[in-house]
Amino acid sequence: MPASKPRIYRPTPVNLRRLAAILRRGGLVGVPSETVYGLAADALDAEACAGIFAAKGRPNTDPLIVHLASAKDLETVARPNAVALRLAETFWPGALTLVLPKQAVVPDLITAGKATVAVRVPAHPLFRQLIRLSGRPLAAPSANPFGYISPTSAAHVRDGLAGTALRAVLDGGECRVGIESTILDLSDPARPRLLRPGGIAVEELEARLGHALPSPAARLITPAGEAASAPGMLAQHYSPRTPLRLHAKLDETFLRKLPPDAAAILLRRPAAARRAPALSEKRIHFLSEGGSLAEIARNLFSVLRDCDSGRWSIIHAECPAGSEGLAPAIRDRLERAAARA
Ligand code: TXA
Ligand code: MG
Repeated sequence: MPASKPRIYRPTPVNLRRLAAILRRGGLVGVPSETVYGLAADALDAEACAGIFAAKGRPNTDPLIVHLASAKDLETVARPNAVALRLAETFWPGALTLVLPKQAVVPDLITAGKATVAVRVPAHPLFRQLIRLSGRPLAAPSANPFGYISPTSAAHVRDGLAGTALRAVLDGGECRVGIESTILDLSDPARPRLLRPGGIAVEELEARLGHALPSPAARLITPAGEAASAPGMLAQHYSPRTPLRLHAKLDETFLRKLPPDAAAILLRRPAAARRAPALSEKRIHFLSEGGSLAEIARNLFSVLRDCDSGRWSIIHAECPAGSEGLAPAIRDRLERAAARA
């Protein structure tokens, strides 16, 4: 018998109230956010959050992000400092997660026993509405089985978490940003630390902070099995089942010789695409029309999923260079997706 799939709910007022009631009862709901879809539960209910770890197959050494409807609620779960308040004012609601000292009400399970909690006010209006209607802060990791490609549509969540305790997903359309939030550790406000590049570019944070951030570089990328300094930042993550190989550039000669069992992902559509038959094949995917990093990020996970259908024995993908805008975050996801434990 096929595994039972969660149902996708359209965002009507009646459905929003129904899903909020599930959350208040300690249940799980798949929620849209502007970054990626989340798997949400009441953040103050440890048992409800245990359901998140079980559904994802996520180790409980990997802490969860707590989502609030408004920055005004920050003190209910965390102890903010002046730097955090300044960044929150600029970037919330949005794709920035702040790590701060936690309040005692936050269960240890959510923070993996740490004295800090990760907090974000998402920009997606339906997510914030659901938080308000449920009357609870909502813990939510990305709504994918642990280690697999993050979901950017309600259908991704439904298909990926079929057969788990998840029964309901709120449809909020395709994610506008397409990669997860940037995580900044502000537990010591004198020494902010970038834990994960993401939807807000590092130079935007630096401009608001008034100083440069130390590069996270390799020190945060932890081989599987080793204790992580930044929990959850494993070398292998976001991974398709099909082997993925990264390239600085896939030129036309390479694509013309692409073996029949391979797919390719290009950062932008080549000008010649419509003329050269080798470049217009269905197994050659484009992440953007003109090379915009925001567009590449938005399409990245869904194109990786399309290529991971089981039809191909290898995926060749271009990986952006450079340190500007979303390039480091896109590269981070591609490198982890290509890593093999
Ligand atoms: O965009 C996003 O951030 C999405 C949406 C749903 O909000 N969520 C997301 O959650 O990406 P997740 O669970 O896939 O990644 C959360 C990561 C953890 O893996 C860990 O690295 C970091 O956040 N984290 C959470 N709490 C932390 C803490 N107290 N200290 C350090 N890192 C923490
Ligand atoms: Mg995740």
